[in-house]
Amino acid sequence: MEQAALFTIFGGTGDLAKRKLYPSLFRLYKKGSLAKHFAVIGTARRPWSDDHYREIVRDTIKDLHPTKEEAEEFSNHFYYLSHNVNDTKHYDQLKELSDRLDEEYQLEGNRLFYLAMAPQFFGTIVNHLKSQGILTETGYNRLVIEKPFGFDYDSADELNEQIRNVFPEEAIFRIDHYLGKEMIQNISVIRFANNIFESLWNNRYIENIQITFSEALGVEDRGGYYENSGALKDMVQNHILQVVSLLAMEVPTSFSNKSLREEKVKVLQAIRRYDEEEVAQNFVRGQYAAGKLDDKEFAAYRDEPNVAEDSTMETFVAGKFMIDNFRWADVPFYIRTGKRMTEKGTRINIVFKQVPVNVFNFEQEETGGKELPQNILTIYIQPTEGFSLSLNGKQIGQGFNPEPVKLDFRQSEEVTGNSPEAYEKLLLDALNGDGTNFSHWDEVANSWEIVDRIRKAWDQTTPEFPNYAAGTMGPDCAFELLAKNDHEWAWQPDQWYRERG
Ligand code: BG6
Repeated sequence: MEQAALFTIFGGTGDLAKRKLYPSLFRLYKKGSLAKHFAVIGTARRPWSDDHYREIVRDTIKDLHPTKEEAEEFSNHFYYLSHNVNDTKHYDQLKELSDRLDEEYQLEGNRLFYLAMAPQFFGTIVNHLKSQGILTETGYNRLVIEKPFGFDYDSADELNEQIRNVFPEEAIFRIDHYLGKEMIQNISVIRFANNIFESLWNNRYIENIQITFSEALGVEDRGGYYENSGALKDMVQNHILQVVSLLAMEVPTSFSNKSLREEKVKVLQAIRRYDEEEVAQNFVRGQYAAGKLDDKEFAAYRDEPNVAEDSTMETFVAGKFMIDNFRWADVPFYIRTGKRMTEKGTRINIVFKQVPVNVFNFEQEETGGKELPQNILTIYIQPTEGFSLSLNGKQIGQGFNPEPVKLDFRQSEEVTGNSPEAYEKLLLDALNGDGTNFSHWDEVANSWEIVDRIRKAWDQTTPEFPNYAAGTMGPDCAFELLAKNDHEWAWQPDQWYRERG
């Protein structure tokens, strides 16, 4: 269905706008979700002209192979306004342009404000939007915000207050781009559209759950940001805790924004709040040293641009969350994420318990002849997308020796990392006013509360960094963390095994 809307993008010249937003808008345009009745105002400090801006927009979509006419027609919907977020008179210009475009494109007063810039400006911007009369009365006013949403609970709360003074919760769309990923959305379908799993999805049958978000890239040119964030705030506070809540939540009464949110929040509330000592027992951190993989040399984190030479910021986290409710008591949710690991791989492994009694008397090398291999449901988020179930079948031949076999489904082998497709879906959701795949305040607040405790405990001691070589699967302590409970990471990249010989 065609949408009528005016997009105002703060940070319109930035990396995110160029890499994600413009290509996503173009895809929506190609699919007919946006047609005649849409316009985009890009704002930023640089003094660009409309023509220059349109040229940049066309450049960002060239990989999508538009025809010349298509690219022209699409980019003609874009307007540029040089803007200082603190200057009231610039908002007056913005109002004038918005009202003009509203009329010209018949936008029905529908306005979507996208804040793709540093969060310290969010409060100022939304206040001006209100005070200078840029919010319309005839259509909707929605706010789309990028992470980071604050840098701890207090700052997030303050930020939330500021924007909630202007926009109601249902008009705020806090982006967590993982929630737009195909396989993250698929978690709910795998769980709730298959009768075979739900009855097993609890502490009676599941031994532990493992969530790995490994990245091969280093911090690249984001050293400045990362030095204030680290892996914990960059990945765990948002993406990983969202995934934990999707995996652990109760079945919602319907798949609606409200029910889903209620269930996710209950999980986050039930995650055990660790004190300092418990953080030390259950969370470990790492930072990459220089390393080599596939004969390529990689620099240490401390030698990356804009990183202090004695930085103690973590580029790797592994930890164990416990969820204190009926369904999950005693089931560890292990998580790990890091930069400069062996390969890019986002995976979830649901490791089922052993059968109560092993009636097969056999010699199995991998398990020392004692136990059967465990059933594991693997959800491949990216770059491979799909899922597989590892079961035990009978070895061909004499006797009843079980051996693991895999039921495997792949929906794509493509590299979809941080794909624009996720943004395309999320933008369309925001246009439709559907907040299901966005983070709500209660979720953000609980996540910060959990993460703040870890950060605070870590800040009491100085870690011995660096402690893992670039190109590996993280420091030894991440393996010891599971070994303490007689568990082990169910997935390591093949390359990792090869490198270790
Ligand atoms: C972002 C983080 O939120 O997610 C980055 O800030 C990280 O540090 C990125 O690289 C990972 O996203 P994806 O989609 O590439 O897995």
